[in-house]
Amino acid sequence: MKDRILAKLKETYPDYISGAQLAESLGISRVAVWKHIESLKESGYDIVAVKGKGYYLQHPEQAIIPSVILENLADPCWGRPIFYTGQAESTNLWARQLLENEAVPEGALVLAGQQTGGKGRLGRRWSSPWGGLYFTLILRPALDLQRASLLSLVMAVACARSLQQNTGCTCGIKWPNDVFIQGRKVGGILLEASGEMDKLDYVIAGIGINVNLMPQDFPEEVRHMATSLAIATGHSYDLNQLVVSLLKDLRQDYYLFLQKGFQPFREVYKEYCIHWQQPIMVHTGKNYVKGVHKDLDANGSLLVEAANGEIISISTGDVHLIHYQEE
Ligand code: BTN
Repeated sequence: MKDRILAKLKETYPDYISGAQLAESLGISRVAVWKHIESLKESGYDIVAVKGKGYYLQHPEQAIIPSVILENLADPCWGRPIFYTGQAESTNLWARQLLENEAVPEGALVLAGQQTGGKGRLGRRWSSPWGGLYFTLILRPALDLQRASLLSLVMAVACARSLQQNTGCTCGIKWPNDVFIQGRKVGGILLEASGEMDKLDYVIAGIGINVNLMPQDFPEEVRHMATSLAIATGHSYDLNQLVVSLLKDLRQDYYLFLQKGFQPFREVYKEYCIHWQQPIMVHTGKNYVKGVHKDLDANGSLLVEAANGEIISISTGDVHLIHYQEE
């Protein structure tokens, strides 16, 4: 019902709609309308109520409305079913819980308006205020763990390509799967797998994109490194349209990868990678490796050439670009 109320508010935007009209069109009481509106407001929707006029939804492009997403999905597609809530701790966590309790099909979408405990790579937090896209896809690829790590690079290519097409802004990738715009991080991917080493039960692909966030929406410690699509381009984006487009592009690249492997993505990854053949410093968790990023190996590990010519392969870590000052 909340979804239908949101759809009505979006439809009547920029006009007000009265409680009586909403109640009549949805076949519920005015008190029920009021209760649903209060609960929507609690989960973050910016709904204004004005005496004598009715209700009005501010920033409708920031309102995620599952029925609008479903209406716009092509066939075949990802995004059916959609599990949506205004506020989740983490969509990756929620996806795992769903998988424990029910049979969830491949391509199911787990989506939240905001996250209170968003998870990032390497045990970090992912700040997830209202205005961003936070979703997890449930996948059941017939892959072993090693090949699944390549999937995380494929997803980065798909996201960077899709965001570039949607915004017209040049996007880049920082290994393994951070999406960058104008030298700052705009999106991240957290892939988690479950099953045996040689055959996975499922993969959950959590994707976070800073869409309509403003600088003050980011925690102070990441503000200088982060950006959003709105900051980079100067206007906001409809979250429903953007997620539909991302789902289409991610699905297409996923099936290409399953059929043809990483080969079709190698050159594209290289093209998008912001530090290919560049001096970098990688924090592996245990130590720091300094050198030039030469290539990727067959598993998607980073190959770094150290000053002594040794090639070091790194399977997990955090890349920092080294910028030399001109003398
Ligand atoms: C990174 O550190 O770059 C990965 C960030 C991944 C964030 C997304 S938001 C949706 C999904 N749910 C989470 O808790 N994390 C991922």
